[in-house]
This record gives sequence, structure tokens and C-alpha cells, in this order.
Amino acid sequence: MVRKVLVPTDGSPTALRAAAYAATLKKLLPETEITVLTVHTVPRDLIGRKLYWMAEERPVTGKVIEELFAEERERILKTTVDVFKEAGVEVEVDHRTGDAAEAIAEYARENGFDLIVMGTRGASEISNLLVGSVSYKVLHLAHCPVVMVK
Ligand SMILES: Nc1ncnc2c1ncn2[C@@H]1O[C@H](COP(=O)(O)OP(=O)(O)OP(=O)(O)O)[C@@H](O)[C@H]1O
Ligand SMILES: [Mg+2]
Repeated sequence: MVRKVLVPTDGSPTALRAAAYAATLKKLLPETEITVLTVHTVPRDLIGRKLYWMAEERPVTGKVIEELFAEERERILKTTVDVFKEAGVEVEVDHRTGDAAEAIAEYARENGFDLIVMGTRGASEISNLLVGSVSYKVLHLAHCPVVMVK
């Protein structure tokens, strides 16, 4: 039974296609509740991490950075929610900070989701791999079925 569907988004065109697919699913299964989740990722590489923490330690810079992140998060969420609005589907929104895949899988498990609908690729689209690293890792960590939309 599919009751709670999690739609993780980074605002990329593929993630928006996944959102459109989830909206269609909602029409087939009207009882389902949909939550759109975006994760603010801390940079993985050493220099990125160092700059990030350095900025956080400086009150003014840290605040500006926080505001920029919040703006970006709102933009990502709005772009994704708009896809549902256009389809006449209401959704909840939420956000987390950390490793994207770990946060998505943890959020899905802790909140009793029974399906994750996400894109195969995301905003990076640099490599030739079939699926991005977040999708790949979610597939590995998820406790429930995962639908990947191309
Ligand atoms: N920060 C994030 N928060 C929520 N969902 C995300 C996030 N990043 C990616 N996703 C989800 O994962 C899907 C696949 O994106 P992924 O990041 O794996 O691919 P990519 O950006 O092409 O490659 P990579 O990030 O590995 O270089 C997206 O369509 C989206 O559904
Ligand atoms: Mg990505």
C-alpha cells in the first residue's frame, strides 16, 4: 500500500520530472500524502568543507551565507511545489542539512514513507554515469521502494 510518498528535489529538470510523475501517481492513488524534501549539502571535498566552516565561524559572512542558502532552498522548493500546483496537487515541504542521500533515506525511514520518487540525475549532470551519486546511494540505503524518473 502506498500512503506516503517522498519526493526529494534539488530543483533540477530531472527532479521536476520526478515531481510531475509523483503528481500523476497522486491522481491514481488519491489517498497518498506527498512531501517534497530538499537537503542542503555540506561540500564533500576538503577545500569546500574548510571554506564552509571558516565562513560559519565569521559571524557576518556566516549570516550572509546562511541567507543565501535559505534563498536557494526556497527557490528549489518553490520550483518543485509549482509542478504540483499546476497539477492541482497539494504537498507538504521540508528540508534537512547533511549528506543528501543519507538525509533522504533517514527522513523516509523515520517518518514512515513507503515510496520515494526521485530523478535519476540531478543538478550536476557532469558525469556519464547512468544515475547520479545521490540516487545511487538512496537506492542502497532506502528501507522502501524507490522510483527513479529519467
Ligand atoms: N540536495 C538534494 N536534496 C534533495 N534531493 C536531491 C538532492 N540532490 C539530488 N537529489 C535527488 O536526487 C536525484 C538525482 O540527483 P544526483 O545528485 O544523484 O545526480 P547528479 O546531480 O546528476 O549527480 P552528482 O550529484 O552525483 O554529481 C535528483 O533528481 C533529486 O531527485
Ligand atoms: Mg547532484
